[in-house]
Amino acid sequence: MNLKKFISFIFIMLLLLSYYPLVTHAKADQLDTIKKNGELRVGLSADYAPYEFEKTVNGKRVYAGIDIELSKKLAKDLGVELKIVNMQFDSLLGALKTGKIDVIISGMSPTPERKKEVDFSNYYMHVQQRMIIQKKDVKKLKSIDDFKGKNIGVQKQTTQEELAKSEIPDANITSLTRVPEIIMSLNTGKIDGVVLEGPVAEAYLSQNSNLAFSQMQFADENKGTAIALPKDSPKLLDAVNQSIKEVDDKGLLQDYKDKANEAMFDEGSFFSKYGSFFIQGIGATILISIIGVALGSLFGGIFAFMKLSRNIILKTIAWIYIEFIRGTPLLVQVFLVYFGTTAVLGIDLSAFVCGAIALVINCAAYIAEIIRAGINAVDKGHTEAARSLGLSHAQTMNKVVMPQAIKNILPA
Ligand code: ARG
Repeated sequence: MNLKKFISFIFIMLLLLSYYPLVTHAKADQLDTIKKNGELRVGLSADYAPYEFEKTVNGKRVYAGIDIELSKKLAKDLGVELKIVNMQFDSLLGALKTGKIDVIISGMSPTPERKKEVDFSNYYMHVQQRMIIQKKDVKKLKSIDDFKGKNIGVQKQTTQEELAKSEIPDANITSLTRVPEIIMSLNTGKIDGVVLEGPVAEAYLSQNSNLAFSQMQFADENKGTAIALPKDSPKLLDAVNQSIKEVDDKGLLQDYKDKANEAMFDEGSFFSKYGSFFIQGIGATILISIIGVALGSLFGGIFAFMKLSRNIILKTIAWIYIEFIRGTPLLVQVFLVYFGTTAVLGIDLSAFVCGAIALVINCAAYIAEIIRAGINAVDKGHTEAARSLGLSHAQTMNKVVMPQAIKNILPA
């Protein structure tokens, strides 16, 4: 094949490839994809109790909340496994459109802009929009006018962001990606108020005794939440609406709310929650120490002999290494290894491996000094005596110096 033919061949292949997804996407109903994969991938942003949040059970992070219960029901109705995909709220629509998830169940309200990009089910819940503020401001911030020039926090790309912009135009709106960050800003006084969905606001108030509702009311305060799904998937839309109808008919939502509340407050004992973290941590500490000491001694020995050698280059290398490592904090070395391996070398090592490498590098320098000091502490007269009796340098080291040096080194 000559070059021209080859290039046109590649070109045609590329053309075909780019056409292929267009064809298939246009036809497949997302329900078929879900059934084929045997898995329903639900996208959500687990920062939104009681809708969805993470909780620790026996040292494992699990998802809980109203939306999680609804997701379980939907997966069961569809006869497939459930997979929760947790991401930032402002990434959900993009993930749905690119097929990374099958549906969004994340306390999302249908809006005209969103409807251009995705389809929505019927509402499964109706909620009010509320403003929360610090308790000490309750008397000061009572109406929309009181928020003129104030700093208001909202979650990025949410209906709360729109609501704040349209109804409190004279306030400074700060949009952050995760709700806990916004609550933290409110607690520290960086912002004066946060717009939230009613049940979410209540959940955060129950955890933060210094926060309270503001009496101010939004004109457009009622918003329903619905399930978002890809456009042109009528079969999936029917199935989803069917499940929601059942939830309504059987009054399941109340169960879901009760379960979510229970999950929010049954904190369990300290040990049942964190015990397994401690056990894991002890295991990791022991393992990493063994690796650090074993490999550190090996390399430490090498550096010690380099530093004791008469070769000026080896001596300098060892000297620089030992002084540098002993002169910088271990944490900095861990950072250098962890971020350096990905940023500079482009290799992606696990945190454990990076920690082990950093510890070996660090131990080697300290152990090198211990070994060198141990060897130097052996009286020079012993070497001289051995050499004058006719032992070679190696024999002197092996038979006379090292046995005594090891006795010095071991306690350290
Ligand atoms: N209901 C609002 C919206 O649709 C906010 C939802 C935020 N959800 C979340 N899981 N953080 O824009």
